[in-house]
Amino acid sequence: MLSIDFSHIFDVGSHGMTKKQFAAYKKQLKPALKSFQLRAQGFHTIVDDMATAREIMQYAKEVEGQFDDVVVFGIGGSSLGTLCLRDALTHLYGKREKKQPRLHVIDNIDPVMMQELGDVIALKKTLCIVISKSGTTPETMSQYFYYRQQFEKEKLDIKKHMVFITDAERGVLREVAWEEGIRTFHIPHNVGGRFSVLSPVGLLPAALIGIDIVKLLGGAKEMRDTFLSSAFTKNFPFQLAVTQHYLDTKREKHLNVMMPYAQKLYRFADWYRQLLAESIGKKKNRKGKTVYTGITPVNALGVTDQHSQSQLYNEGPNDKLIMFIAVSQLAKQIRIPHLHPKKEAVAYMKGTSFNELIDIERQATAMACTKNKRPNLTITIPKVDEEHLGQLFLLFEGATAFLGELYGIDAFNQPGVELSKTITKEMLQKK
Ligand code: PA5
Repeated sequence: MLSIDFSHIFDVGSHGMTKKQFAAYKKQLKPALKSFQLRAQGFHTIVDDMATAREIMQYAKEVEGQFDDVVVFGIGGSSLGTLCLRDALTHLYGKREKKQPRLHVIDNIDPVMMQELGDVIALKKTLCIVISKSGTTPETMSQYFYYRQQFEKEKLDIKKHMVFITDAERGVLREVAWEEGIRTFHIPHNVGGRFSVLSPVGLLPAALIGIDIVKLLGGAKEMRDTFLSSAFTKNFPFQLAVTQHYLDTKREKHLNVMMPYAQKLYRFADWYRQLLAESIGKKKNRKGKTVYTGITPVNALGVTDQHSQSQLYNEGPNDKLIMFIAVSQLAKQIRIPHLHPKKEAVAYMKGTSFNELIDIERQATAMACTKNKRPNLTITIPKVDEEHLGQLFLLFEGATAFLGELYGIDAFNQPGVELSKTITKEMLQKK
């Protein structure tokens, strides 16, 4: 199980919180759990849906070897989790097993992106997964229209080359699937887009590129159980939410930086950026009062951004909580050869490895932040693998759900996003 070190929240004086202030939240855990359960959100129950996982694995088996490329069309909650899964659990430079297809996630409508995708895929060896919970999102629908036409021009069978992931009952994709018998997996009604990575949205593309979705769900289940625990000391998601909430509301830490020290977890910070921003950025609370809540998420990557952002984090406005993610065993162990032994300036690297260097740099960065009274915490996972990625997803989804309770807002809607979608449609209709 992952661990969280909160010590640098407690030892930054008036910029952090005391252990007493931390523990004072204990009494809010049970009411938060109760209130949350009334909302009947499904992100933590989907991890038990082994029937869907089996159906996905069966489909992946059926199409094994048929496609060189899998293309996901989707945006926001329908794409960010998949990007994270691909980058965390497959080769960084795209090397793959013989039978495995490449996975492209197309989450923009820049025509150059659409066209250049066509340059690197052969349609007859391509499977497109169109993902939209609403089944009407203009970005995703336009991508679908364009690529469907490309398949039709080449007289390829749409039923072989396209799969939809959408709501079980509603939306244009659902209707087309019913009308034409297109293979469809559904997103449960009570699972919101940004909470859907462990539904078919993330699981289907993952299974197609050889990710072990059973292990992924297994890790998520472990964290789900801690999320539902009414014991404060066991409930990591609640402890995390408490820290974020206290520092935002009492210590003016309105920004949360997520800085993984693993190249493969960079997209995890991107996935979380949406989760935190869309869930907590709200004008009204659940009673209809104007509250303007929100914590601004910031992505950074260790060690790369030490040479880009650290200056700001250490000496700029003290308005951030920094969340480091450490990996105790990075998949490869590489020693750094000791060259130029007479050069004093690099002598300190003697006998070290990349693994030690990255870890020591992480610790040093955290210590520097602490010295500068910048609150920070470190989440450590043993490895970047399916099990621990599953735990991380549920840790942050659970913490976000609890944050919704602590602020008294609805963490599961996104009226601001809906509004811009509506305006876009109106403008296109007028045109
Ligand atoms: O979290 C959300 O609900 C949103 O980010 C959606 O995922 C995003 O707007 C895409 O919506 P849809 O899946 O309906 O196309």
